[in-house]
Amino acid sequence: MYNGIIDRYRPLMPIGDSDHIITLNEGNTPLIRSAYIETMTGNAALFFKYEGSNPTGSFKDRGMTVAVSKAKSEGYDSVVCASTGNTSASAAAYAARAGMKAVVIIPKGKIALGKLSQAMLYGASVVQIDGNFDDALNIVRNIANEYHVALVNSVNPYRIEGQKSASFEIVDDLSDSPTYHILPVGNAGNITAYWKGYKEYYKIGKTESLPAMLGFQAAGAAPIVLGHKVLHPETVATAIRIGNPASWENALSAKNESGGLIDSVTDDEILTAYKLLADHEGIFCEPASAASVAGLLKLSGNSFFKSTDIIVCTLTGNGLKDPDNAIESSVPPISMPSDYKAIAKAFHL
Ligand code: F0G
Repeated sequence: MYNGIIDRYRPLMPIGDSDHIITLNEGNTPLIRSAYIETMTGNAALFFKYEGSNPTGSFKDRGMTVAVSKAKSEGYDSVVCASTGNTSASAAAYAARAGMKAVVIIPKGKIALGKLSQAMLYGASVVQIDGNFDDALNIVRNIANEYHVALVNSVNPYRIEGQKSASFEIVDDLSDSPTYHILPVGNAGNITAYWKGYKEYYKIGKTESLPAMLGFQAAGAAPIVLGHKVLHPETVATAIRIGNPASWENALSAKNESGGLIDSVTDDEILTAYKLLADHEGIFCEPASAASVAGLLKLSGNSFFKSTDIIVCTLTGNGLKDPDNAIESSVPPISMPSDYKAIAKAFHL
């Protein structure tokens, strides 16, 4: 058994012998074979990398264990980040464990309830601004430039180093790279990290091929697809409500080098995929995560995939983080008298 991704992949991590490791045993998340959606892809083999089973419920923990370990080892006593929610939850948890202070800046009213409650309970100082994620990122960049505080957004290269471990796990499970790797794109750190991970594993001979990277933005927050910043990004997938991704250039490199694409999906397509995953796969992810499957379905509609393809979709975060969207997308509970016969009859049991 490994104690988290640093322990498991230490030779490929920027960790020195004297570094202090802060871990919650993140990583080692399930690669789940599709039970149903696969049949909609032209019978390619489809897997979901379910990052919702990380300790704070998203892929951010992979990056945060490295970023906070390094911050602690380098003598910082506080961390700061901008966030659409998940980064703030993860930073708050790892900072708490490290005995460090966390200050997180979030767009007011645009954070899913579960994420907000996490950052609050882990004891972070939560600052809401009348602005979006891009504004919050500018603020924390300025703070980190002027004050002795570690910036733990994915502009911190240690975050990317940790997040690349998801590619290692996928290759370890499949014994090679998939043909296609599909994931949602917001600030574009994760697509950068996955591509770095695949390339590193290829270089040391762990794989014989590299996947094509397919990234999907929400249509109302699709600066990379449009080729220009989006000043007022909007989408139901609040995690990827970002108009000026910090790793824009790296995302384009991942796309170009891998022979992939970056496209957009509408909120309707995202919510359809979100519900399909729950109804037919038994998988509860958050709306932003479902953007990967929405992208898969969009491409499948154009007969993009072959039956010999192996596809991995990353499901970036746990559905429990966003109860409001879950309830809005579902049939409401039915009130009935406490009468077992009436209940059995109503449902033809
Ligand atoms: N999916 C989820 C659930 C996310 O929380 C994020 C990013 C992404 C996808 C996109 O990843 O930014 O690396 O392209 N969330 C950040 C946050 C921005 O603050 O939690 P990305």
